[in-house]
Amino acid sequence: MTSNPYPLGLRLHGRRVVVVGGGAVATRRVPALLDAGADVLLVSPELTPALRARADAGRLHWVPRRFVPEDLDGAWLVQVAIDDPVAAASVSAVAAERRIFCVRADDRTAATAWTPAVTRHGPVTVAVLGGGDPHRAMTVRDAIRDLLAVRLAPDETAPTQSRPDAATGVPQAGRVALVGAGPGDPELITVKGWRLLTEADVVVADRLVPGLLLDELRPDVELVDASKIPYGPSRAQEEINQILVDRALAGAVVVRLKGGDPYVFGRGGEELLACAAAGVPVTVVPGVTSSIAAPAAAGIPVTHRGVAHEFTVVSGHLAPDAPASLVRWDALAGLHGTLVILMGLKNLAAITATLIANGRSPQTPAAVVQEATTGTQRVLRSTLGEVAADALTADLRPPAVVVVGDVVGTLDALDA
Ligand SMILES: C[S@@+](CC[C@H](N)C(=O)[O-])C[C@H]1O[C@@H](n2cnc3c(N)ncnc32)[C@H](O)[C@@H]1O
Repeated sequence: MTSNPYPLGLRLHGRRVVVVGGGAVATRRVPALLDAGADVLLVSPELTPALRARADAGRLHWVPRRFVPEDLDGAWLVQVAIDDPVAAASVSAVAAERRIFCVRADDRTAATAWTPAVTRHGPVTVAVLGGGDPHRAMTVRDAIRDLLAVRLAPDETAPTQSRPDAATGVPQAGRVALVGAGPGDPELITVKGWRLLTEADVVVADRLVPGLLLDELRPDVELVDASKIPYGPSRAQEEINQILVDRALAGAVVVRLKGGDPYVFGRGGEELLACAAAGVPVTVVPGVTSSIAAPAAAGIPVTHRGVAHEFTVVSGHLAPDAPASLVRWDALAGLHGTLVILMGLKNLAAITATLIANGRSPQTPAAVVQEATTGTQRVLRSTLGEVAADALTADLRPPAVVVVGDVVGTLDALDA
């Protein structure tokens, strides 16, 4: 007789799952049940703060008392997440009587079902059982996860375009992903962004994306350097849109890799519209934006309790008096919180003068962070009244973020 488990994928959507216990084990188990759409009934006198937050948000039903047999009415599965063996055994006895599978955190040998170690990649779920040894299961799971991170299942976005592969005749998906690469440190790309990058046939990269990310692309990937496209800025954007659409329609998996976040002064919206107009499916992967990361990398939190209750991100690429400017600098001068200015070095003297003329104190702390999160990061600390001259003297260059507000000095005590 074999004692091998029989693997199944339980489709729990809308089905009652009872979790007995509200401690650390339940805290770890419940999210996957909710992710599967289960109707979770949690029975426990106490809950961890994380579980209570889910209960308060109406994501699960909480019965604040000890288990009674009627709790299993209508249940398809029960998870026992308590370490009192006598209480756990009484739950499994009721479950067995009612032919409900029962997972036991305290005693796997007494359980009628085991939870596997799991890794998820888009639509693919890999579940590993280690023959009763959870450590073995996790080791194998980790190896598979690493393998999938490189090989990769297709993204969850269903493709609508396809072309037959010359060798196999199998339809190939063409699609575009607008991926935020983060501010400069290659490790600040998201896991999803990295996964899509490793799947790409074509990568269209901005000037500001971390070079090391490109260094790790497969040799057969076509790399288009968007900063080398000739013509002026608006024609170049049209050209980029066209490249994205053409390559995707030809069946390629295209990653448009953009510095920071694609939708923060990144023209990601225009690219999405161009792809949508051509019927090309698009995934947008947010990135770590320099507007928050650059201050953070210089030890400046954009908000701090009792200091700043707002932060405003603004582009300084146009001077305050430029007819095309959409920014109300006079109104920004009246705010008390943090002002984060991108692309503002060139116009910094005019910007700071306008803020001061409209009421912001020249003594307000200010900082400039150049090439944040990279090995060549530079930080200048100053005041609103002096920062433009100081940046000039220090020969600061783009890319740089200017931060204005009391948060600039908030964490200085740490340096002492
Ligand atoms: C066209 S905007 C793109 C912003 C980008 N989408 C983001 O979310 O960070 C370029 C500006 O972002 C800022 N920037 C980007 N990367 C930076 C970095 N590593 N350090 C400082 N500023 C940076 C600079 O102000 C630069 O001029």
